[in-house]
Amino acid sequence: MRIGMLTGGGDCPGLNAVIRAVVRKGETYYDYQLVGYRHGWRGLVDGESVALTVASTRGLLPRGGTILGTSRTNPYKTPDGAARVIATMERDRVDAVVAIGGEDTLGVAHKLSGDGVSVVGVPKTIDNDLSATDFTFGFHTAVQIATDAIDRLHTTAESHDRVMVVEVMGRHAGWIATYSGLAGGADIILVPETPFDIDEICSRIRRRHERGANFSIVVVAEGATPVEGTMELQTGALDDFGHVRLGGIGNHLAAEIEERTGFEARMTQLGHLLRGGTPSAYDRVIATRFGIEAIDAVHDGDFGVMVALRGTDVVRVPLADGVAELKTVDRRLFDTAAVFFG
Ligand code: F6P
Repeated sequence: MRIGMLTGGGDCPGLNAVIRAVVRKGETYYDYQLVGYRHGWRGLVDGESVALTVASTRGLLPRGGTILGTSRTNPYKTPDGAARVIATMERDRVDAVVAIGGEDTLGVAHKLSGDGVSVVGVPKTIDNDLSATDFTFGFHTAVQIATDAIDRLHTTAESHDRVMVVEVMGRHAGWIATYSGLAGGADIILVPETPFDIDEICSRIRRRHERGANFSIVVVAEGATPVEGTMELQTGALDDFGHVRLGGIGNHLAAEIEERTGFEARMTQLGHLLRGGTPSAYDRVIATRFGIEAIDAVHDGDFGVMVALRGTDVVRVPLADGVAELKTVDRRLFDTAAVFFG
């Protein structure tokens, strides 16, 4: 059998570890030939592929990014996109595809599955916002990078009596902000799930400084928004899936805090630093387990599924469940972090 594989959406640490695992078990145990498609679904639409072998995927475990490249191409944006994917698979004699991606990439996988394509999904995103899995790989690494940054910002904030606003990724869900804020001892965490009230933030900071603190750390997810009408909102270009380009709320926030409280404020945007570089040991392990489960699902003829982490087990769930709705931050977790606010 010949099996295709692609990585779509934003890159994240651990993608190469999945590729390595799929190839290792597929070639060694099942005698499959593995075909990598370049730049997400674009590779299948345009027919751009590369052979993947155990030899060509050696040394990938600690390497960040994706050797296949990625894009946010949506085949369903053009009338013949899905037909071209199927034509490429026929041309390459590929029987099934392992799609590694987030809600958009796996949303396409789900639709293609409905169109008769044999697909297995692997959930990736630093945002950790996919349903039906407790964690996606990449998240743990992003949280560690953000936590290290918050730790460093603490000492400079303290030295200069400043309010430090740290902007982290998180378009629809504030998992990175909540975890790194909790781990880094943030004084305020702002997430997309709950619009923030700038007056309340400023009074918390004032109160904290009245009680003797000389600095504050505010962690804000890029997708956090103010309560309507209280602060100017940013706009930007849209991608193939209709998402606006984010990044900038931290700047607005730092300026507002400085103006309203009189405390000097600075902003650090961690952005793509959270996605780059080597995966943590934890992410390497989940990515490898996901890759092995995905190729086992192919071998079992179990298609239209996504591999997932449930507790400590790697299981298979319907792709439909993975993309049904976004997994937003657990309120109880956020409330734990909130005990330390202000
Ligand atoms: O992959 C998810 C993510 O990292 C989001 O957190 C972020 O909003 C988005 O990708 C940014 O992606 P890019 O800059 O690659 O368009």
